[in-house]
Amino acid sequence: EELRADGLYLLPGAIDSHVHFRDPGYPRKENWKSGSAAAACGGVTTVFDMPNTNPPTGTLEALRLKQKAAESSYVDYGIHGLFGDDTVDRLEELLEGGVTSFKAFVGNTFGNLPAPSDGALLEGFEKLAPLGIRTVVHAENSSIMARRQQRLQDAGRNDALAHLASRPAVCEIEAIGRVLALAEWTGARVHIAHHSAADSLFVLREAKRRGVDVTVETCPQYLLLNTGDTGRLGGILRLNPPIREARHNQPLWDALMEGVIDMIATDHAPHTPEEKTRDSIWDCDCGFPGVETQMPLMLTEINRERATLMDYVRWSSVNPAKAWGLYGAKGVIAPGAHADIAVVDMARGGVLSQGRLHSLSRISPWHGRTVRGVPLHTLVRGRFVMRDGNLVEEAAGWGRSVKAVQRMPAPRPRNADSYTSAVLATPEGAPPARPLEMM
Ligand code: NCD
Ligand code: ZN
Ligand code: ZN
Repeated sequence: EELRADGLYLLPGAIDSHVHFRDPGYPRKENWKSGSAAAACGGVTTVFDMPNTNPPTGTLEALRLKQKAAESSYVDYGIHGLFGDDTVDRLEELLEGGVTSFKAFVGNTFGNLPAPSDGALLEGFEKLAPLGIRTVVHAENSSIMARRQQRLQDAGRNDALAHLASRPAVCEIEAIGRVLALAEWTGARVHIAHHSAADSLFVLREAKRRGVDVTVETCPQYLLLNTGDTGRLGGILRLNPPIREARHNQPLWDALMEGVIDMIATDHAPHTPEEKTRDSIWDCDCGFPGVETQMPLMLTEINRERATLMDYVRWSSVNPAKAWGLYGAKGVIAPGAHADIAVVDMARGGVLSQGRLHSLSRISPWHGRTVRGVPLHTLVRGRFVMRDGNLVEEAAGWGRSVKAVQRMPAPRPRNADSYTSAVLATPEGAPPARPLEMM
């Protein structure tokens, strides 16, 4: 057999900070085995799973159920624990139990988990800041959204554009600003999930300039789709935050180049085809699968010279590894690093087909899209999990938690007065309050 290497590149496997593998809780939508198979076939070697499962990952018992489910994973994984009003007292316990990080749903979305109050955010950030642990935030203002949505529903507006109008970008500006103010005050590390809008980039740029340790992800759907696609796709395209107008696409690319946005994640959010195609847009579940299609979609744009392959590696592997304390062990091809590798064929093309996805949610807005640049083989810690484009089924269960190799760098010392320690610590243990030192 002829060995051909033209067009082949060795990339560090992608690290996807944002997937919903739905396990435990929603077996018709996804499970760890199907979700991680999709990751393996998408060149993704590490995923971070979101806590809006059932039960939500906010107690040790729920965490144990998720860890059990994750034993069938093809790829390595981190687990985001739930950050909410009633879990703030359990953050340390959850960390000891094995979560790598936390997720705060500041904005209503699938699973209907209540948003943490601002008071709980402040308390939790004060606890996590000295530990250097990063919190993912879904940052949208729910009160604006809920009222908008009610008005549109009352007016009988069942179309896709009404859904978009219910979530104006000011929802992001307000919630991101609020979260970043608390992050700066406490010195906590935060991560903005699925950043969708050009209008809110200025808040992030300013926070980074001020030295706030905030990392930011965007997703292929915000870079490549826009309201021009909503007529064609309807409820399939319904997700939180919404696909926005075309004017947002290029500024998100520019922000990636500038470093205001650090990385690509997918927000892999599987639902069944039935749940995505109901008559009214308001009855369609939000989100769609993405972990298997991210790499081909992005490599296609690299082939179109929108960025270089090195830029892509920074966004897919290097920066997420740094954000989650894995850099050195993962996110890089180097001596001493895990052999987490995606071998990609930049010359091979094809048409994405939802019927061939490994996710149980075989309904995708990318169906029928032509790509060029695909992963051919995926290795996790030296073992093939996809070979010649085929899932290596015996590799189910090879995935491990990344907790063992996670090393968050020490946080910068802060001088912020300590609300939580002042209120909750024993009198003799409470540090003296000092004024906030401006940077
Ligand atoms: C996500 C889901 O389905 O879990 N849905 C979505 O539209 N993005 C939840 C989320 O990330 O907000
Ligand atoms: Zn979200
Ligand atoms: Zn999500």
